[in-house]
Amino acid sequence: MRVNLQKAIAKLKNGEVVAIPTETVYGLAADATNDDALRQIYAIKQRPMDNPLIVHIGDSSQVTAWAAEFSPTAQKLAAAFWPGPLTLVLPAKNSVSQIVRANQPTVALRVPAHPLALRLLKESGLALAAPSANKFTQLSPTTPAHVTAGLGEDIAVLDGGACEVGIESTIVSVINNANGDHWQLLRQGMISEAAIERIAGKAATALSQPIKAPGQHALHYSPRTPTRLFTNRGALIAQANTHCAALLIGEGAQPNCPVFKLNKNVADVARQLYDTLHKMDALGADLLLIEAPPNAPEWLAILDRLTRAAS
Ligand code: TXA
Ligand code: MG
Repeated sequence: MRVNLQKAIAKLKNGEVVAIPTETVYGLAADATNDDALRQIYAIKQRPMDNPLIVHIGDSSQVTAWAAEFSPTAQKLAAAFWPGPLTLVLPAKNSVSQIVRANQPTVALRVPAHPLALRLLKESGLALAAPSANKFTQLSPTTPAHVTAGLGEDIAVLDGGACEVGIESTIVSVINNANGDHWQLLRQGMISEAAIERIAGKAATALSQPIKAPGQHALHYSPRTPTRLFTNRGALIAQANTHCAALLIGEGAQPNCPVFKLNKNVADVARQLYDTLHKMDALGADLLLIEAPPNAPEWLAILDRLTRAAS
């Protein structure tokens, strides 16, 4: 069910969940201070309660309402990349719901760069917990139609069009110790590790006890159809038959099956990736054959999603 901005705000204030657009993927949003509303997110997604949620805020002045520390490196990253596809995992204030942070000592925060999401955050005055609006382990949604196909017609969806970035945010944790603050990359995204390092002014730290993003299950972002990843076009073609469908990145020889071709541009592939996988999944093929992207740093986030899709 589609809802407009005013209806979305009313529902969220009333403790209901609403699927909302962001620049990365659609999120299944609820008031991040309302535990009953947060529980609905986990229930609808069938998500384990030990997998914490990202809290979306309207601007960086709200960080200190959630985080116990907003250290210099975290401030630099926020100034450089917000609004945008970066999530910062920071030490949580005691007041932060144990449900939203799944009993972690930290909280994940992000200012999304989608005009409608920002209006929603600003006009409602709420902070919104929002994981991707898909069932646990399934493909993330980048259009309202994907949300409805995955979660059903009864879910309220605020329509903000197709997502511009197309894959989930880069997640960086920043913690302080006696030697200053340290950052670690918890999830690859379209903001690269090199870009984070440039703004932070220092490399990621290998901590003795790395903080893990608890949601990084190997099986994730998965089509329902069995999926295989190939680092070599020839091997993919050799595997193909008419019951397969193939996703190719760039020009070249084609297999004997339905083909979905993306041009070899990282931002274009990211924007179209989930929509293409949703379409391939709907074909009723026996097997999806996917060509791995080039082996280069700027493709790591895409490779991460495709590796999980095929695991
Ligand atoms: O682009 C995105 O990040 C999208 C949009 C909707 O903002 N959201 C998203 O949420 O991808 P989700 O729940 O699908 O993935 C969030 C990831 C999970 O792997 C979760 O474990 C991790 O963030 N995370 C959340 N809070 C954390 C915390 N306190 N410490 C470590 N990891 C955390
Ligand atoms: Mg997700």
